[in-house]
Amino acid sequence: TTNETKFPKSFLWGGATAANQMEGGFYEGNKGLNIADVLPGGKERLSILQTPGFNFEIDREKYSYPNHEGIDFYHRYKEDIALFAEMGFKAFRMSIAWTRIFPNGDELEANEEGLAFYDRVFDELHKYGIEPVVTISHYEMPVTLVKEYGGWRNRKVVTFFERYVNAIFNRYKDKVKNWMTFNEINSGLVMPIMGLGFSIQKEEDKFQPTFQAYHHQFLASAIAVKACKKLIPDVKIGCMIIFAPVYSFDSNPENVMYSLQEERLFNNFCADVQVRGEYPAFIKRYFKEHKIELEIQEGDLELIKEGTVDYIGFSYYMSRTEKKVKSELEASQGNIIGGVKNPFLKASDWGWEIDPIGLRISLNKLYDRYQVPLFIVENGLGAYDKVEEDGSINDDYRIDYLREHIKAMGEAIEDGVELMGYTSWGCIDLVSASSGEMSKRYGYIYVDKHDDGSGTLERKKKKSFFWYKDVIATNGEDL
Ligand code: BG6
Repeated sequence: TTNETKFPKSFLWGGATAANQMEGGFYEGNKGLNIADVLPGGKERLSILQTPGFNFEIDREKYSYPNHEGIDFYHRYKEDIALFAEMGFKAFRMSIAWTRIFPNGDELEANEEGLAFYDRVFDELHKYGIEPVVTISHYEMPVTLVKEYGGWRNRKVVTFFERYVNAIFNRYKDKVKNWMTFNEINSGLVMPIMGLGFSIQKEEDKFQPTFQAYHHQFLASAIAVKACKKLIPDVKIGCMIIFAPVYSFDSNPENVMYSLQEERLFNNFCADVQVRGEYPAFIKRYFKEHKIELEIQEGDLELIKEGTVDYIGFSYYMSRTEKKVKSELEASQGNIIGGVKNPFLKASDWGWEIDPIGLRISLNKLYDRYQVPLFIVENGLGAYDKVEEDGSINDDYRIDYLREHIKAMGEAIEDGVELMGYTSWGCIDLVSASSGEMSKRYGYIYVDKHDDGSGTLERKKKKSFFWYKDVIATNGEDL
């Protein structure tokens, strides 16, 4: 019998991470401070992200900062990459910390120690035939650019970013053939701190600065795409968005229309610009209604048109269900992107609604609209894990989650979607982006580190480690 797999031979199975959530090495190699370094750990983090007026200062009396040590990938990358290789990873998604290369962001010369660190990491990956997939900016903007320049609101930042991308493309042109510009670029629409690098003072004042900052990021993205193609042969560069398909709560046309508007604004706006190379028609009315007047200079729109990305990388964790008028009682608890509770779905311990069919829907929606290859660069279940007395970690809940999502991917491929790969999030436990916790774990590999900072940092294989290894070995056949 021919049991042919749905997944193409070249499918990039692997895992995903970000520098700030795992590296540690906070004071080493001349690294400068980035946004993640000043965000405290613990449940307070989410409310800091959602509340106006954050000052980007470290306050050790009040808070702890788990990102500073991370999981010490900075020193343990060899051990970790060997474990990824043992699982059979074809690709490893990671980010370069901008502040290792330009500690303050506005220097003229790149920092050699930082450049050398990523050389070592890429070489180690290539030793095992693992392809690095690199995010250029993953919530890691230099704090100097935030404090002295106002983050992405300031057009000067585009020039600093250009310097940064030229430095890394020149240095790694033979080692990295797959790049992504801004991680979850659309997240700034709900909270600007991590992605756009500023904190608003009042909620109602957010519109103008947010979209001006986006205009600058779109220019920066186009500059990066053009530079990348010029400097690196056979390269692919994508955008990266959060995709959470929006469902109407019911068939009331008011709710259907509202859901459509939310879908276009949150899920499509950024990708429309980065993939199609122009501002979408619907945004003009939105700008008018919110009194947004962009400062666009001569040549900007041409640049955006010329610098379109090759593929769409996206994170998928949950869907979102919308209603035009909603009471607080109906609001979904953990879906940071809003919406109401969906009566058909269960949620994770952090309230993120679990919806594998939503992944198939997302893939189809994205492919219908853009017709470019897609790459799922994040997906997974944040959960509490328990180490048994014999040392085993039986994370069947995680295996169930991943299995259902991988099945949905297979369905989408059969629907005709062109899918490049799947790098599940946090393949090794790391610090959570939204809550700064260690206890919200995603990994196939357990790291002995806890919310209070204790732990030996020892790595242990979870049950899902062996399961995923088998999935990769059978190219998605054996689930
Ligand atoms: C995405 C980010 O939002 O989701 C990651 O790109 C993040 O940085 C991941 O870690 C999971 O979110 P969290 O809040 O559970 O860490």
